[in-house]
Amino acid sequence: MTSVSGCPVSHGSVPLSGPRFQSDPVQLYRELRRDHGAIAPVVLDGDIPAWLVLGYRELHQVTGDPVLFSRDSDLWNQWDDIPADWPLLPMIGRKQNSILYTVGERHSVRAMMISNALEGVDPFSLKRYAEEFADELIDRFCTKGSVDIIADYAKLLPALVLARIYGFSDETAHPLVDSINDMIDGRERALAGAEHLGASMFQLLADKHAEPGDDVASRMIADPGRFTDEEIAQDLMVMMAAGHQPTADWMGNSLRLMLTDDRFAASLSGGRHSVAEAMNEVLWEDTPTQNVAGRWAARDTHLGGRHIRAGDMLLLGLAAANGDPQVRTDGSALTGGNNAFLSFGHGEHRCPFPAQETAEVIARTGIEVLLDRLPDVDLAVRAEQLTRRPSPWLRGLTDLPVIFTPTPALGRPGLHGGHA
Ligand code: HEM
Repeated sequence: MTSVSGCPVSHGSVPLSGPRFQSDPVQLYRELRRDHGAIAPVVLDGDIPAWLVLGYRELHQVTGDPVLFSRDSDLWNQWDDIPADWPLLPMIGRKQNSILYTVGERHSVRAMMISNALEGVDPFSLKRYAEEFADELIDRFCTKGSVDIIADYAKLLPALVLARIYGFSDETAHPLVDSINDMIDGRERALAGAEHLGASMFQLLADKHAEPGDDVASRMIADPGRFTDEEIAQDLMVMMAAGHQPTADWMGNSLRLMLTDDRFAASLSGGRHSVAEAMNEVLWEDTPTQNVAGRWAARDTHLGGRHIRAGDMLLLGLAAANGDPQVRTDGSALTGGNNAFLSFGHGEHRCPFPAQETAEVIARTGIEVLLDRLPDVDLAVRAEQLTRRPSPWLRGLTDLPVIFTPTPALGRPGLHGGHA
């Protein structure tokens, strides 16, 4: 273990960027742990210092103490050095009014409001929506014999299902899904995408005030906590953006595992059991949520042998903690229902349980329907040619090209069937 140290930037800090987060994160986290211990000093874009929490135990400690390690980004001691056009501002925001940055009692009632609204979704309807949208998307490419599963399937399915349960009509869902993907891509259409998403949420709330329905937005409006439209719209945006992309990546990473690993390849068709196993293994070994920002120290403290100053930012190294040798003593691949991974976070700000279940139903149904419809689906390129997005935050494939025997479309009403 390294000695106790202060300001992260002055002690051999590691940039939280670069090709190894893309190509080789497991080995990278191992080296960081070897060189820095459970808490590594890192620098973000523009040499902004932060601590990356790599240890499983230390991550529990940080996420389990929301008073000492707060979600309130206003505490950050670096705001004076953050330029107005800092690229990470959309993710690490100041004075944001969503659930993510709300603390204390207000956070508890707000998290409860979100959980209750999601829990009101009938599980059978959720699965049916996922099946219908999956079938409709597959109909678009099943006669062609090849497809990129990421662009034409995984990047669409979760947002379509979420839009349906939140209360959007299917006509509004499609442009919405495009704007979410534009926003997440972070390129020239990102800002327009974010604006469209925001405007759509306020329009949805206006529609549901006028005519409430059996949907998540109507339940959020009716919550006894009496949240403002501004608060609800902010939370729906989090639930849409933070819900869609990791679920899409969970599907993509699980399908990659099943298509490249012999343990799963043998049972691809009809391999329902192995779908659950692959999805569980991905949350341990290849989680979509690699690193999450963040927590801010409310006062000077010590953690993992480090001196943390009041206002320092800590990043949650979920992927590194999942692989912490202190909890993975036998070094084995963990499958078969061990859910002690930290991929959904931990503590008060963890991903709400009904959100985790929603993600699981969408991802599992998406994979099962795809394998049912295209039983001989196979990679169209060599496994080594598959690449990840160059991000230290969410880990997912850039594309997943596959081939299969062409098969007729089902032509069932789905996307425009209006089941809401
Ligand atoms: C594979 C899918 C998903 C993964 C891996 C995931 C992961 C996470 C993680 C790690 C956090 C904690 C962030 C922190 O501690 O600062 C979180 C928070 C959150 N997630 Fe998820 N999530 C997923 C899907 C979803 C879905 C589908 C929804 C909505 C339906 C959702 C809604 C939320 C919300 C509202 C929060 C904020 C909770 C709070 O701050 O109290 N997530 N998620």
